Formats: sequence, structure tokens, C-alpha cells
Amino acid sequence: MDVRTPTRLEVIPLTKHIGAEVRGVDLRDTLDAGTIRDIHRVWLDHLVLVFRGQRFSQEDLVRVTGYFGEIGPLSRPLKYFPKGYARLLPNIMLISNIRENGETIGALPDGEMHFHHDMIHAELPHKGTLLYAVEIPSYGGDTLFASGYAAYETLDPALRQRLEGRKALNHYNYGTTIRGDTKSAVEAFGEAVHPVFRTHDETGRKAIYVDRLMTMKIVDMAQEESDELLSAVFDHSERADFVYRHVWRVGDLLVWDNRCSAHARDDFPSDQRRLLWRTTVKGTVRPY
Ligand SMILES: [Fe+2]
Repeated sequence: MDVRTPTRLEVIPLTKHIGAEVRGVDLRDTLDAGTIRDIHRVWLDHLVLVFRGQRFSQEDLVRVTGYFGEIGPLSRPLKYFPKGYARLLPNIMLISNIRENGETIGALPDGEMHFHHDMIHAELPHKGTLLYAVEIPSYGGDTLFASGYAAYETLDPALRQRLEGRKALNHYNYGTTIRGDTKSAVEAFGEAVHPVFRTHDETGRKAIYVDRLMTMKIVDMAQEESDELLSAVFDHSERADFVYRHVWRVGDLLVWDNRCSAHARDDFPSDQRRLLWRTTVKGTVRPY
């Protein structure tokens, strides 16, 4: 009989508001139900989990995604993805700037990316995202994670009052990485209206749920007023003290909660290879 000793997780918070490194677990092992529950709890508490030194196959990534919920489908039909996808298991997205015969093999290849919540442009956004580092440039390409809870709780009360109960339109053009970028937008891909402040369905806490990349406007508000309020919210949400900056190493696995955090990417040298595998966890409730 296979009797396993429960794994003792070591949890090291990375900033005051967001991010924790989890040690003491090799995610290639099959985890017992108690350990999976513990990891889920730590995830809800810290929003972003970092597991260093993993050595994953694609199958490992798919299995570990299942610890957090049901694996999400790709965000758009396969025909919109580069040819490199033929080498991947279903539901794995390749984030890469690598080019073969002049063509990128992965999605979102180059440069900086503004703060956003993955899939906020969908009616039922995916609740979590996993990203595993296969190849990383010598510098740059850090991912920044901002706590939507911390930003909500410290938002100027007058501003919060003007936005409480409001909804916003979120829109995404496939391939765009910064607001106002039209050259890499292939076509309008999707849009959805969600609350400006979202209540997390598991923690019950409220978080800011608008972002610089994808939120277009507050519904039923003049564009000028909407722009002014959103710009104030974005500036506040991206404050350095609400942010954990992740400097990638090969073998890092990150898991983040899209219901209460936004993330962004720094620029990196275009002549160095960067390759990550990404999966998502399906949402189970519409944002409210
Ligand atoms: Fe993202």
C-alpha cells in the first residue's frame, strides 16, 4: 500500500500584499488531497504562488493545473496561433519570441505588456493562470503582479464611492500588449461588461477589476469622466507597494489568481530567447 507522509509546505511571503514562494513540494510528485487543499488555501491568501526549480514536462503542467480547477481552453481558435502550437498538448499556450523561418512560434512575442487581468474580455473569465519558464533571457521580461485587494482597500473614498456598483466594458484585440497599440492587433477578439469592483467568490473580499490594457470605459458614463476616473484607478492600482516583481529563472512555475490581481510584463532584449508554457483554470462563476 502506498502510504504518503503529508507534505509540509514552507510558505515564504514575497511582499506585504501579494506573492508567496512555496517550498518543500516537488510538483512532479502526485500530491495527496490534503496537500492540494493546503496549496489552494495558500493561493487564496497570497494571490500569486511561486514554485522554483521545477522540471516539468507538458503533462506535468496539465496535471498541476488540475489541482486548481478545470483546465481552460485556449482563449481563441487555434487558427489564430502560430505553427509552433502543433508541438503542444491541447490547452497549453506558448508565450515566446522565438522565430523559425521568420515566423514566431508562440503568442505575445515581444516587449512590454500593460497591466491586465487574463480573459477579462470574456463573459466567464478564467480564474487562474499558470506559467512555467522553459527559456528566459539574461535580463528583462520580469512579470509584475498587483494586488487588487490592496488597491481597493486603499482607494480614495470619494473615488471609490463614484465607482461603487458601476460596470465597465473590457475589450481585447488579440496580440496587443500595450494600450493604443494598433499595429499588432489582428482583429477585435472579444469584449465583456463586468463590475469595476469584483467580489471574490471564494474569499468574499473585494478587488479592483479594471485594468490599463483592456478596460475601455465605465458603462453609462461620459467618456471624458470615465477616462479621468479610470486613469486615477489605474495609477493607484499599479503603485509599487501593491506589486510583486517576479524575476524569472528557468524551472519557475507561477500560479496567479485573475479574480483579484492584475499583471504586466517588462520589456526584454529582442535578440534573446524567451519561452514559457501557459495554461489557465476555468472560472466557475461570472464576476459579481
Ligand atoms: Fe496575461
